Amino acid sequence: MVCVDDAAVRVGGRPLWSHVRLDIAAGEFAAVLGPNGAGKSTLIKAILGLVPTTAGSIRVLGERPGRLADRVGYLPQRRSFDADLRIRGLDIVRMGWDGDRWGLPRPGAGRAARERIAEVVDLVGASAYAHRPVGQCSGGEQQRLLIAQALVRRPELLLLDEPLDSLDLPNQAAVAALVGRICRTQGVAVVMVAHDANPILAHLDKVIYLAEGGAVAGPPREVITSETLTRLYGTPIEVLRAGDGRLVVVGQPEPPAAHTDRHASSRTEGNRRAVR
Ligand SMILES: Nc1ncnc2c1ncn2[C@@H]1O[C@H](COP(=O)(O)OP(=O)(O)OP(=O)(O)O)[C@@H](O)[C@H]1O
Ligand SMILES: [Mg+2]
Repeated sequence: MVCVDDAAVRVGGRPLWSHVRLDIAAGEFAAVLGPNGAGKSTLIKAILGLVPTTAGSIRVLGERPGRLADRVGYLPQRRSFDADLRIRGLDIVRMGWDGDRWGLPRPGAGRAARERIAEVVDLVGASAYAHRPVGQCSGGEQQRLLIAQALVRRPELLLLDEPLDSLDLPNQAAVAALVGRICRTQGVAVVMVAHDANPILAHLDKVIYLAEGGAVAGPPREVITSETLTRLYGTPIEVLRAGDGRLVVVGQPEPPAAHTDRHASSRTEGNRRAVR
């Protein structure tokens, strides 16, 4: 589904990351982890074909990035809706179906569209609130509707940029489990950017860490070790094994409370402080 081979990217004239290697097969769940500014969103954009590689190569569904865009679903980072927005959750999902047609329905849409929209809304567990104005839905509910939007055209590859951002811990766990289920039952390959490995670790097949110290990719048990993370972050990080075998990452540096390029609104900022 995705083959990143020794790729490098430059932004604003400077190298951002290099020697990145990552292979993702159908039905696999991969996470992109690392500190703020490491280039996680840029990796997603390179897979989408929005940012060119300056070395190595990226293949997506066997083609160069961007060629098969209609077979790739994408949820950009930090989307939230104004509380006054009257548009319904169902309409948000429908935009994933025909949003690129400037309001023109896709040919033969009608019933097929309605059925598919109802199906994905059900898949993400949003049926109870999809008829309500999306501005009145909670952050977790909005996130599920946006995942449904990215899924509605049956993508083979789903790229999710921090879908757990601003969710409380139970919702992080629930959305992580939902995405894991989508991989297994729909055979969709998922690449999810996340800040904290812990809520998603149990569901992951692969991880890639980006940090100034380099990039490391592989199965979680090989990559998520105290030695590797301490080297990548340049600060002591411990990986513990819980009684039931789960890995727990301890001591990951917190993002600064007032990171200048984050947070669209003071409400999100408040949520983040409360969560972390
Ligand atoms: N078009 C651009 N021109 C110049 N610099 C850029 C451009 N796009 C991204 N950058 C810089 O590249 C770095 C990586 O950005 P990116 O958004 O990929 O990071 P990230 O890992 O997703 O961070 P975060 O965790 O904050 O979302 C940042 O320092 C950013 O300012
Ligand atoms: Mg980002």
